[in-house]
Amino acid sequence: MPIPVILDCDPGHDDALAILLAAASPELDLLAITTCGGNQTVEKCTINARRMCTVAGITGVPIARGAAGPLLGSLHIGEYVHGASGLDGPEWGEPTVPEAGENAHDLIVRILREHPEPVTLIPVGPLTNIALVLSAHPELKANIREIVLMGGSTERGNDTPYAEFNIRVDPEAADIVFRSGVPVTMCGLNITHQALATPDVIERLRALGTPMGDLCVELLTFFSASYLRTWGFTSPPLHDPVAVARVIDPSLVEVVSVPVAIETQGRFTAGATCVDLHHLTGEPDNALVATRLDAPRFWDLMIGAIASYE
Ligand code: RIB
Ligand code: CA
Repeated sequence: MPIPVILDCDPGHDDALAILLAAASPELDLLAITTCGGNQTVEKCTINARRMCTVAGITGVPIARGAAGPLLGSLHIGEYVHGASGLDGPEWGEPTVPEAGENAHDLIVRILREHPEPVTLIPVGPLTNIALVLSAHPELKANIREIVLMGGSTERGNDTPYAEFNIRVDPEAADIVFRSGVPVTMCGLNITHQALATPDVIERLRALGTPMGDLCVELLTFFSASYLRTWGFTSPPLHDPVAVARVIDPSLVEVVSVPVAIETQGRFTAGATCVDLHHLTGEPDNALVATRLDAPRFWDLMIGAIASYE
């Protein structure tokens, strides 16, 4: 039976490919796409989700707008990576896939209440939407199978020296999620940096000879330039699809069970994920943390999904 999932995202180049992977996979039943502010404003992220679904012909999956900013403070956007539109690179037409008639919060709550089995949440942006649902409706925790998120790192950060972008944007939301008691799997930078879109990957996408393959090349070309300019990467890491891949085929991603705490106060470290890999703190385990990716099989899965679109 396909696994019912909700993809919560901030498209964003890698989010856009996560949408393609989730929608194409027979292992998943993509019940909804929800958006939040992060890589760009929530307005732009929502338009970008609609754009990707329009081009991919993904219809019948509601796209619902969520939180415009973090629980505390103002939104910090990732324009330096994803550009002014949040999905710079290709020329986009007007999206025809509509925005849902309800907001992300109401849609997530309704699905959790109504779906006949527990739902897996796959947040790949800041965790604001998820934290708001968990806080307002703790009774719905039992309706969540697990939360498999892209965020954090067992090592250093990317948006600040010690904080990964998604967690840095809303540390308080991440703290609520990691302390919620809901099963959490964290796919952090330490593993997503193993999913590099190398020239070989780009060539495989070009060789598809399809409009979608070509579109993904355009997206990854822009994304690659951002990563080279900002962090000196010669090939960009495709973060968000790794979390989706973990749900599709857990054998792709090795994990360890450890305590994870979120730094919310640090003057220089706010948003850091304090991953206690050696159980030094004596704290109880509260997350599975991904440590190793089977990159060749991941790319076969990702490119296979892209190949399934025209
Ligand atoms: O740090 C990488 C994460 O931040 C990814 O989810 C990317 O889309 C951005 O949101
Ligand atoms: Ca993202």
